[in-house]
Amino acid sequence: MESHEHDVLIIGGGGAGLRAAIELGESYPQLRIAVLSKVYPMRSHTVAAEGGAAAVTKANDSLDRHAYDTVSGSDWLGDQDVIEVFVKEAPGEMVRLEHWGCPWSREPDGHVAVRPFGGMQIERTWFAADKTGFHMLHTLYQTALKFTSIKWYDEYFVTKILVEDGRCQGVAAIEMLTGQVYALLARSVILCTGGAGRLFPFTTNGAIKTGDGMALAYRAGVPLKDMEFVQYHPTGLPGTGILITEAARGEGGILVNKDGYRYLQDYGLGPPDPWPRLRAMELGPRDRLSQAFAHEDAKGRTIPGPYGTVVHLDVRHLGEAKINKKLPFVRELATNYAGIDPVREPIPVRPVVHYMMGGVDTNINAATVLPGLFAAGECACLSLNGSNRLGSNSLTELLVFGRRAARAAAQFALGHQRVASEAVKLQAQPEQQRIASNFIRKQGGTERIATVRQEMTKALESGAGIYRTEESLRKTCSTIARLKERFQNIQLDDRSVSFNTELMSALELEFMLDVAQALAHSALRRTESRGSHQRTDYPARDDKNFLKHSLAFRTDGEPRIEYKDVVITRWPPGERVYGK
Ligand code: FUM
Repeated sequence: MESHEHDVLIIGGGGAGLRAAIELGESYPQLRIAVLSKVYPMRSHTVAAEGGAAAVTKANDSLDRHAYDTVSGSDWLGDQDVIEVFVKEAPGEMVRLEHWGCPWSREPDGHVAVRPFGGMQIERTWFAADKTGFHMLHTLYQTALKFTSIKWYDEYFVTKILVEDGRCQGVAAIEMLTGQVYALLARSVILCTGGAGRLFPFTTNGAIKTGDGMALAYRAGVPLKDMEFVQYHPTGLPGTGILITEAARGEGGILVNKDGYRYLQDYGLGPPDPWPRLRAMELGPRDRLSQAFAHEDAKGRTIPGPYGTVVHLDVRHLGEAKINKKLPFVRELATNYAGIDPVREPIPVRPVVHYMMGGVDTNINAATVLPGLFAAGECACLSLNGSNRLGSNSLTELLVFGRRAARAAAQFALGHQRVASEAVKLQAQPEQQRIASNFIRKQGGTERIATVRQEMTKALESGAGIYRTEESLRKTCSTIARLKERFQNIQLDDRSVSFNTELMSALELEFMLDVAQALAHSALRRTESRGSHQRTDYPARDDKNFLKHSLAFRTDGEPRIEYKDVVITRWPPGERVYGK
């Protein structure tokens, strides 16, 4: 088996992975770094982020206010030590990006512009028009490319984490061009593989967001934390699920039902005025807005359409000049994918799965319980976001914790011997055989990838969507268990080795089934309602029993669920108040 050896190996070339790579290149030039990605880095999903990245910058803002918004937005499930570190390190990260060339939008006087965003008390979201992720990813990629200590493995797909002597010592990965499996050895590994929105049928997430890193860690014995918390973004385009950024509401857009009524005023989100509507109405938190849609829908006040019911996001009053300047991508997307020009017509929107608050359990330094394995970005759960993430905290999160993960992984690598190559390589060897016999050379299977995947996404949407019950979750759990069995009987048509995308889909589906099971069982066991996890059979928040993170451990059968305490430093559990 061919192998390559590095000091720190980063899996994933999106925002978190690239930020980690830059930190390693800059601060640890003596280390040999590698970045592996299943796509070219510029195709990572960070590129699709639109609205902006939060960090305190205004004189009348404060770190405490940003921290408090994040704590209450999380419905008190965020770890407050993590939140405090996050808000403190965030502004420096934004300035660093500026120095690396990120074209932040400016005020006429030259200051960096910030816009209001959901659940924030004050305007603190930095942006580059409404293509913030695109500009950030470009900035990070072009900066990372200048470090000669970084080797790039583009279009490699990781199938297994290699554990030897009780620590992570690399990964097994397929080179998609040749189909060959390699052992990529490293003294520490950072997972930055993004989220898992593709578990659901209707999502803003690109096709690559299949929970790979979560499943890899889970299979290596690391628990998945808080997986029951799935964020529905209130404004996706029907049919495609393409994101219509919260920035549209941050710039003044309003949501109306079929009667043209601003229904959010009926859901404890305050009166329609004044402007800006900070922490209120259309700028309330995403969990509350998506839940309000579900209620309007149940009352028959939404608008039927070919892809389900919708409400209208109206930005016409902003005027063409402002839309072109601040929301050009919204106009482009609505025109191309909904056939309407938002300068002249309201945009049809509905809630859409956008973000996983849960992920690979890590501590404040992005370290997992498996020595040598770290995680950052959406695949990780550092417990920054708790049960509901505030819009624009995630782009900042991947910078702050991408960097922290790099530092922790570098320290680990420097403190540990080179890997025990032969023993580790031996672990990677069976992967080539497993992939051939389970997939490429397998005969006589009767299950198709698309069928199993569709049944999985339907089971999650119907049983573990915006509102859940014991009955719906039990049904989802048993469907997923059956689908896992059926997956053993999967049949591929493509037997080629080079760019076998059917094989990649099969491997991704296998990962997704693991993640889906952790999600459904975590949701079943949390018998309370908090943030994005709403149980109609347990409608109240229950701090006595559930001011805790859930941890799902993989077993041969159902996941084992355990709990660990939330870290409270300065903000004792309170009521989430918006619009008052
Ligand atoms: O609506 C948005 O632009 C999304 C931002 C985010 O998820 O942070």
